[in-house]
Amino acid sequence: MAVYHILVVHFPVALWLTAYLFIFFRTFSNSELAVRLQKAVWPLILLGSLAGAVAYALGLMIYPWSAITSSPLGRNHIMLATWTLSYWTVMGVLGYRYRRFLFVGAQRWITFILASIGALVVTITGTLGGSLTGTPSLVTKSLDLIGWNVYMTFYLPTWMIWLYFGGAVLLVLLGYAGRKSRG
Ligand code: HEM
Repeated sequence: MAVYHILVVHFPVALWLTAYLFIFFRTFSNSELAVRLQKAVWPLILLGSLAGAVAYALGLMIYPWSAITSSPLGRNHIMLATWTLSYWTVMGVLGYRYRRFLFVGAQRWITFILASIGALVVTITGTLGGSLTGTPSLVTKSLDLIGWNVYMTFYLPTWMIWLYFGGAVLLVLLGYAGRKSRG
């Protein structure tokens, strides 16, 4: 299964990062080409998520769950893969729903920052995968420089899970409040 996972992961990585490239270009350019490329952003992201879901499922089939979760590196890869897939999927849905407003006024910078976070998490997921195959990249080494040794550190305090949960509930409530106030 490893070979299929490695084959398929190239699709989400390429599709999401192409979407990021178009977002980057559009953030700094109002040219006709940039505006046209902007139209491809949400289809690229959602296609990436589709391929990402297949890659994720194949990843789960490489080793037994008890084996892959027995090392911090394996757990870090799974955690980042989960973030990456959910993050880009939400970005794709929002990108489709608000496609006309993504680059209007200050929203352009929010789009750019959110997409940059997406590019960062997919890069880290990929480099952790590379470390699993025994080919760590400079990104893995750079993470070490900022204090995250991906081979040794996996620590998710329980309060952090509560914080995630609280944040998610808060966002949903804010969404409802926003919808109500618009009538
Ligand atoms: C969006 C999801 C994912 C992405 C983008 C991703 C990306 C990658 C990449 C780039 C590699 C290295 C390929 C290479 O060195 O040529 C890799 C390897 C690996 N990934 Fe993932 N991955 C994802 C999800 C998962 C999941 C959910 C699991 C397991 C639960 C997993 C398990 C593995 C394993 C075990 C390897 C090493 C395979 C080997 O040693 O041959 N991956 N992944």
